[in-house]
Amino acid sequence: MSRDACAAGREIAMTAEPGWVPPGTDTGKANIARVYDWWLGGDHNFRADQDAARALITVEPKIRAMAHTNRDFLGRAVRYMAGEGGIRQFLDIGSGIPTGQNVHQVAHQTAPGSRVVYVDNDAIAVGHSKLILDGNPDATVIHADLRDPAVILDHPETRRLIDFTQPVGLLLVAVLHLVPEDDHPREIVAALRAALAPGSYLVISHSCRDTRPEVTAAFQAVYNSRIAAEAVIRTHEEITRFFDGFTLVEPGLVWASQWRPRSPDDIPEEPAQYWMKAGIGRYDGTSSPREGTLAAGPSCW
Ligand SMILES: C[S@@+](CC[C@H](N)C(=O)[O-])C[C@H]1O[C@@H](n2cnc3c(N)ncnc32)[C@H](O)[C@@H]1O
Repeated sequence: MSRDACAAGREIAMTAEPGWVPPGTDTGKANIARVYDWWLGGDHNFRADQDAARALITVEPKIRAMAHTNRDFLGRAVRYMAGEGGIRQFLDIGSGIPTGQNVHQVAHQTAPGSRVVYVDNDAIAVGHSKLILDGNPDATVIHADLRDPAVILDHPETRRLIDFTQPVGLLLVAVLHLVPEDDHPREIVAALRAALAPGSYLVISHSCRDTRPEVTAAFQAVYNSRIAAEAVIRTHEEITRFFDGFTLVEPGLVWASQWRPRSPDDIPEEPAQYWMKAGIGRYDGTSSPREGTLAAGPSCW
């Protein structure tokens, strides 16, 4: 995002509702895109979002730090794929309201000309993304739902920017925990995987209930009572299964801060206190199961 585009976005936000709010948007009900925006310090949110965000902070005071840790992981993941992975096209589903260091910006730092398709089911996230991507020939956004992968894969904008005969960086960052079992999240990931060429990558971050079950259960209960879509906090094993058919790259599925940190100082003393797991899988073009055991990688990258 250029400084001007960023400033323009902020200016529109500051002029407040209803200027940048798409018609029909229910701002009286909290929405995760806007709650997450508030946790990150953004201003594309309303009273209902702020109230829900604060209610969740009372359950987990570290949630804002967790959101930033997740966002930092996203940046490292894109840098890894654009660099070592050689990826030049990215599909970011559940992309959210644009904030700093969006995928196209990070990718372009390493590989100028990389193409990015953002996807979100929230009209405000899509509207603001459109605003900042206006005039950018290499990036676009579509309003679609992860639960309908065929619509995303066949969308003319996706087909315009993504060549599925070449490797793709597929990002499902902090979004699969918003897809309950009844919506068949594994089948959704499998459908997306089926569209990928060998050499593609799958990036996932996902909240994990293993180490702090009381907190995560309370968080999920408050979340589901306050926010317009159900959340499911899964176990490490359940999250790992999303990588079926992929080979996890080192260091595997780990606490988000532990995934190739730029400095050891970036890892909190107890990494598990931020209960978000993160990993990247490489698709080798076979249906072989993921690696069972991973060699310990270096602690910094
Ligand atoms: C917690 S935010 C994560 C944003 C970004 N991926 C990140 O990690 O910084 C989750 C985003 O996923 C979007 N989302 C939730 N369910 C979705 C679905 N079924 N299809 C598409 N987007 C969805 C929300 O609107 C929100 O913008």
